[in-house]
Amino acid sequence: PSCVLAYSGGLDTSVILGWLQDQGYDCHCVYVDVGQPCEDRQAILKKAHDCGAKSARIVDVQEEMCRDFAFPVVQWQAKYEGIYLLGTSIARPIIAKACLQVAREVGAEAFAHGATGKGNDQCRFQLAAEALDPTVKIIAPWRMANFRATFPGRTEMIAYCAEKNIPVKASTSKPYSSDENCLHISYEAGELEEVDNCGVTIPDFGMTVSPQAAPDKTEQVTIGFEAGLPVSVNGKKLSSLAIVQKLNEIAGRNGVGRIDIVENRFVGMKSRGVYEAPGITVLYAAHLQLEQLTLDRDLVNLRDRIAPEVARDVYYGFWYTAKMDALLAFIREAQQPVTGEVTLGLYKGTIEVHGRKSPNSLYDAAIASMEGGGSYDQTDAEGFLRLQGLPGRVQGTVRPRKY
Ligand code: ARG
Ligand code: SIN
Repeated sequence: PSCVLAYSGGLDTSVILGWLQDQGYDCHCVYVDVGQPCEDRQAILKKAHDCGAKSARIVDVQEEMCRDFAFPVVQWQAKYEGIYLLGTSIARPIIAKACLQVAREVGAEAFAHGATGKGNDQCRFQLAAEALDPTVKIIAPWRMANFRATFPGRTEMIAYCAEKNIPVKASTSKPYSSDENCLHISYEAGELEEVDNCGVTIPDFGMTVSPQAAPDKTEQVTIGFEAGLPVSVNGKKLSSLAIVQKLNEIAGRNGVGRIDIVENRFVGMKSRGVYEAPGITVLYAAHLQLEQLTLDRDLVNLRDRIAPEVARDVYYGFWYTAKMDALLAFIREAQQPVTGEVTLGLYKGTIEVHGRKSPNSLYDAAIASMEGGGSYDQTDAEGFLRLQGLPGRVQGTVRPRKY
């Protein structure tokens, strides 16, 4: 039998690569590049080959991930449990897709991954993979008792690598686990589980400086949108990935985008997560400002009622579903007028609005103004409130309120 393995070159997936071959599998390694830190891609490919992989390749999906996965989630203003910007969640379906494309090409019947049986990632990988190919066999070694018995800890994994001549880097074992891509870095587990004393371990933040250490000066940034999709930074048209990267830089140096949450995993337990998503944080803020200018109130209300459900579905891993297809079609249509520019001021972790403009602006200073004139006639408010108040007046007559 043969399988594709979502391979990172790290300790876990290196052990899994060896173990899968021990189980008789031909393995095709796929390093899906979502912008995780990588010193030497060629070294990763060589390592996979040296460790017996039948094939190994790198598939760079960063541009597609920003454009077709992350940006629609921004358009939805979807935040899991009100806070988390879904940087890991949204990367999983595209990783699964890239792996299954390779599986189809090489004729592999199984998809193996290194996510544990306790987390969200296994859900996203599996739900995505099975939706794309209902016949695919999922191999999640961490969920298999015999694998866990063979590798109860890092020591056994390192010993296994030594025995099999699998090179392992001098392990810089951190007191927590992290997951990085171009959208964000997440930190969780280990010492970060100390929810009551968050100072015990402060993650080694890689994308942001602390607000305290940020410059004492506000930095302005202007973001352009077309139909709700980010298209430019400071007047310069950029690709989706370049926008995210540029904003990561700008927001990161101003301490913007750190998040700390105790979240509910799909499998049920609560888990503390610390995140930094500087660029995406700024995109949510700018996008919201432009919507305020360009979108009808009732449409936004509808979107806002559904957004928590979109966030939950993305978080759980229900990306390749008829429901999500329909939700994405809805938001694409709803966002048509969201074109224009928003200027933000970033200062020590905070975001202020310095300006917004759109050719589709529904904002009419003449109507809103208190100065009189325009098409608004104050006399109309009389009848408006007379009817709005009708049910209240009837109730107040039949059942007088104490006051
Ligand atoms: N809790 C976040 C999420 O579920 C981050 C998961 C991080 N994954 C990881 N393999 N470290 O999206
Ligand atoms: C894992 O357990 O594989 C990572 C954490 C998560 O998926 O939530």
